[in-house]
Amino acid sequence: MQKIIAANWKMFKTRAEARETAAALVSLLAARQEDAAGRLVIVYPPFTAIAEVADVFAGMAGTATGAQDVYPAEEGAFTGEISPRMLADAGATWVLTGHSERRHVLGESDELVGRKTAFALEQGLSVMLCVGETLAEREAGQLAAVLERQLAAGVANVASERLAGRFAVAYEPVWAIGTGKVAGPEEAGEAHALVRQILRSCVGPVADETPLLYGGSVKPANAAGLLALDNVDGLLVGGASLDANSFAQIIFA
Ligand code: 13P
Repeated sequence: MQKIIAANWKMFKTRAEARETAAALVSLLAARQEDAAGRLVIVYPPFTAIAEVADVFAGMAGTATGAQDVYPAEEGAFTGEISPRMLADAGATWVLTGHSERRHVLGESDELVGRKTAFALEQGLSVMLCVGETLAEREAGQLAAVLERQLAAGVANVASERLAGRFAVAYEPVWAIGTGKVAGPEEAGEAHALVRQILRSCVGPVADETPLLYGGSVKPANAAGLLALDNVDGLLVGGASLDANSFAQIIFA
């Protein structure tokens, strides 16, 4: 399976800064085309910079632009929200749903994440559904229960034939996001095996072709070790993706 290396820029970068980082990334990828061939690089800029990044990535094989969130309606009176059609119009082909900051800082429910996932897929976007447990949940022995709840709700309204080639899951333990604490090989391996197994029970065999990404304090120094684990088909990188050189080291890890 081709490895997906994704950058979540969160609420960072103006349009000019995004363009500059994306252009630097394209130069780094172009300089190592053979190494880049086995990778799909997805960048999720803030909404305002999607068109900039998509413009810089146009014509660069193995790259894609995404959005960090989406609202599950075509259009309407939803102040502050954005539709799949608007994202596609700006140049996004992927969207994140259920990122832990949306769930825990903005209060998104499993049910809303499920509606977003289903609607974005229906409207032609590819979706990267994020799941992961908090430290308290892990310590209470609830890892499997949390993953089951989030995955089942995440794909609840999706027809499994929509998933092939257009759906990925990112496992991001909340305690590892932005904390410098990366999940160890055993923790990540166990969680990824669980995600694969639960996903299979929710959507059937397409689960085996669904890329599973790890996220949470991924850095150039730990990327290769994580990518070598079973069931880790890619990485979703926050802080270390903001700088093109650091992100390129992760892409080529
Ligand atoms: P960090 O890599 O900064 O821990 O962020 C991970 C993340 O939330 C990516 O979506």
